Parts: sequence; C-alpha cells; structure tokens
Amino acid sequence: MLSYRHAFHAGNHADVLKHFVQIQLHEYMNQKDTVYTYIDTHSGAGVYALDSGYASKNAEYETGIGPLWERKDLPKSLAAYVNVVKGLNPSGKMRYYPGSPYCADKMMRQEDRLRLFELHPADSKILADNFRKVEEHAAQQGERPSGRGRRVLIERGDGFHAIKTLLPPPSRRALVLIDPPYEDKQDYRKVRDMLNDSLARFPSGVYAVWYPVLQRMESRQFADKLKRLPCKEWLNVTLTVTTPGPDGFGPLHSSGMFILNPPYTLEPTLREVMPYLVKVLGKDAGATFTIERGAQVTGTATARVGANGAVRMPVGNARRASPTSGTGSLRLPGQAPAGTPGAAATGPRAPAKPGSQRPGGAPVRASARPTAASPGGLPRIGRGPKRP
Ligand SMILES: C[S@@+](CC[C@H](N)C(=O)[O-])C[C@H]1O[C@@H](n2cnc3c(N)ncnc32)[C@H](O)[C@@H]1O
Repeated sequence: MLSYRHAFHAGNHADVLKHFVQIQLHEYMNQKDTVYTYIDTHSGAGVYALDSGYASKNAEYETGIGPLWERKDLPKSLAAYVNVVKGLNPSGKMRYYPGSPYCADKMMRQEDRLRLFELHPADSKILADNFRKVEEHAAQQGERPSGRGRRVLIERGDGFHAIKTLLPPPSRRALVLIDPPYEDKQDYRKVRDMLNDSLARFPSGVYAVWYPVLQRMESRQFADKLKRLPCKEWLNVTLTVTTPGPDGFGPLHSSGMFILNPPYTLEPTLREVMPYLVKVLGKDAGATFTIERGAQVTGTATARVGANGAVRMPVGNARRASPTSGTGSLRLPGQAPAGTPGAAATGPRAPAKPGSQRPGGAPVRASARPTAASPGGLPRIGRGPKRP
C-alpha cells in the first residue's frame, strides 16, 4: 500500500520531534573524526514546499515548526534544528520544510555517506531531483564539489530489506533512521524484525525509530516490544501536544522517538528541550512529554544514577528501565507505563489553551500526483492520507 505522502504532514509536531532528535544524533556522530554512514530506510521526498496545495491543505506545519520559527528563546539544541530549517529558507519566509534526508545532508561531512531508500515512485524521483538541486546549489556556493558521487546514494526500493546490504558499514559507524508510514499495521512488525536482524549484523549502530502514539494495539505495545530487542541501551521520548479525541480519530496527537544505542548526551538535552516543546506546541492541558531509558541486563543488574541524582534500581523483568520526566520520577512495579494516564513518567502539562484544538476527522485518502517544480526551484509534493 503506497498511498501515504508525507507532504501532508511536513513540519508538524511529529516532524519537529523527529528532526530535532535526528540533528542531535548527527551532532553526536560528528564528534568523532571517523566517517559514518547515515541510512534512511524511509526517506520521503527530502524537501517539502509548505505553500503547495498539499502541505497547506491541513497546514500541519502551523502547529509544528510554525510556532518555533520566530522564537527568540529557543534552547541551544533546538535552535540547531530550527537553523537547519532556516537555512532552507534564506529569504526569512518559511516556504520549505526539510525532510530527514535534507537534515542529514546539512549535518553530515563531505566524507560521510548517505544511503537513502524510498519506495514510492513519485517521491523517490522527487527525492533524487531535490538532491540534484541541493548538490548543484552547494557546488555553486563552493561548499562541496558538484556531483553526488559516492557520498549520496538514492534508491527506489524497500528500505526494510535494503538495509541488510549495508550493515555493517565499512567504517563501523552508522546512524539509521527508520520512519515508515505505519498505515499498514505490518510496519510495526517489520520494524522489529528489521532491528533484530540489523542488531545481529551491527550491534553498535545508532538506530532511531519514529512511531505514532495511537489507540491501536500495535502502536500501544510497540515501544515495549522495542525495549526487548537485544540492544545494550535504549531511550524513548514521546511528545503529546493535545488530549486525544474520545474515539481515537482526528489529527495525530502524540508521537515518539525510540533510540537504540543512544548517545549519553541525548537524555540531558531532552530534559531541557521537551518541557519547552510542550510549552510552545502544547494545545491544551493534555500536552505532555515522557522520557524513558533502559538497558538490557546481562548478568547482575546495577543501579543507575538518575539525572536528579537519585539512585535508581532496576525495574521490570529482564532489564532495567528509568523513566524520567520534568520531575525525574521513577516507575515502580505495578505503576502504569510511561505515557498512560497515571504514569509516574509523564512530564509537566501545558496550560490549557481553550479552542486551540483543531477538529478531528477521518484520514484523507491520496488523490493527486506531485506537480511541477515550484517557482523556488523545489518541488511541490503530492497529497496523501493523514499519518495514522
Ligand atoms: C513518514 S514518510 C518519511 C519521511 C522522512 N523520513 C522525513 O522525515 O522527512 C514515510 C515514507 O516511506 C515510504 N515508504 C513506505 N514503505 C516503504 C518501504 N518499504 N521502503 C521504503 N520506503 C517506504 C513512503 O512512500 C513515505 O514516503
């Protein structure tokens, strides 16, 4: 099923969380001189025109990147993300939104490698066109030699399978972003299968999985299943911008990023930035965040010191988990898991903003093709259904 088009959702709150975390991961990878490979299993179109009929249909960016655009009080790490978006909009007017391949390209060094997979025929072509334009522009600015060469490889193909050919990478360093549409509930299983296989091939890779937080069972159980993967450490962050509707339908209210082998720098950064995102993007009193981390237990479990200085003992069955939040609270056996009502791990809630929640609605179905390039030389993207 290839009806999903990311253009409808470009720059929404879920993209903010995903791309902010992605940029943090690149900053961490860049700290070492050794080159690394970035693998984007579900790349999308690369760049999105926000004034196209598609992105502007529901204007999801207006409640995502929009409120961050003019802020003068951004935490430094969040500013790094907003600056990538601003770099794509040198006029100062927000017209384009960068997808994950563009964020990667901006953050990575000349010697690093990008391996981008996109199955949709139209979006894979737009992705290739966009990269050609970005490369030409960079070459004109003297930023790097023209020609994609070995640095960027774009393939129209199934990222779930293609990754097998790339692991382990030659330099033994890789950052992998896994961001499927999840319209097909099989995607949840495919992500887990792929991670199981990838961890066997390359245990030390940094793997970042975006996922929607939904009522459907596969989504509710997803993060807990990822915690059972054979990986040393994991970190799970969610951002909820509004109270979910009673029937579970309507705009996406919450999403998460689950990172396997996270950099040690990420949790403190999230602790600083997530309350800010809740404050700025939260639509009502249901807005909140969770940060949870854990490690696979091999042999004797050891306690861990939390960010608030408290010693944390392992909880759960085979692994230790340390949910953290604005209060640094710890989930105890018997308590609700993070992100559910009553959980100890939820972050501070945003003040209610009456009337700011957009009305719900059923998913929109794909009905148009991508159109020709916009006047700015970057494409307008086709329309598609809402992300579940
Ligand atoms: C959420 S979008 C990706 C957005 C992109 N990662 C970003 O952040 O800008 C998911 C993309 O996956 C593509 N897709 C769906 N199934 C795929 C598969 N098996 N392999 C590769 N791409 C796939 C869809 O066409 C869609 O463009």
